[in-house]
Amino acid sequence: MSDVQNLAPELAAKIERLDALLDSIAARHIDVKFASSLAAEDMLLTHAILSRGVKIGIFTLNTGRLHAETLGMLDRVRARYGYDIEQFHPQTAAVDEYVAAHGLNAFYESIDLRKRCCEIRKVEPLNRALSGVSAWVTGQRREQSVTRAELHEEEHDAARHIAKFNPLADWTEADVWAYLAAFDVPVNPLHARGYPSIGCEPCTRAIRPGEDSRAGRWWWESRDTKECGLHITTIPIAVSTESASA
Ligand code: ADX
Ligand code: SF4
Repeated sequence: MSDVQNLAPELAAKIERLDALLDSIAARHIDVKFASSLAAEDMLLTHAILSRGVKIGIFTLNTGRLHAETLGMLDRVRARYGYDIEQFHPQTAAVDEYVAAHGLNAFYESIDLRKRCCEIRKVEPLNRALSGVSAWVTGQRREQSVTRAELHEEEHDAARHIAKFNPLADWTEADVWAYLAAFDVPVNPLHARGYPSIGCEPCTRAIRPGEDSRAGRWWWESRDTKECGLHITTIPIAVSTESASA
């Protein structure tokens, strides 16, 4: 464990605010769940939740196409925090049907086939994971993508009619890594091998110097199609401190 006293004041303030927000989410939504991809931002939130015993359940969407290193994070979380992250898998029949009709790696052939694969392996399991809950939490940040520039800390998930929280919306990549180092949080070893953003193995590559952090995701597609459907139907709720002080 590192000495938290040595944290930069700005980061210490962000952490205090994050902890307060997580406590308030858990108090307002007893059934809230956090969707973890097991990448850096999500390990930060995992630490913030589990190290303080915040009552937020954690699950991951095990698409069946994740890197071994990503799956290895499940064991590392168990070893560090004594917590078993719940796994949601795609429906076998839907995967079998897709593979029989189009092939195992058909996502390279067209955007439609790519989106269909994400629908089967990620979106449908996400819908199942969130059925019956009143709120969910993600590790998205504004900085990550043009499609996330308007991200709010609190949103309304219009597809599921539930609340959606992005507690790291205004965190920078540097903030994230400073936190992970300060608390010695386990991280996916792929990050150190040039993968700032990690999804399924066949749809993620390492980035080259100068490329943006999501350049390795669905790299054969244009920037504005690069979302898998997990985060497309939200409406912002104006509760942030910016609007309060305006
Ligand atoms: S994606 O839409 O492009 O795949 P990204 O990898 O940036 O998303 O992750 C953004 C957030 O989506 C994560 O912080 C996490 O909350 C959620 N997420 C993405 N992939 C998964 C997954 N496999 N399991 C659970 N949550 C996920
Ligand atoms: Fe399929 Fe690739 Fe989407 Fe994973 S990221 S669900 S392998 S298309």
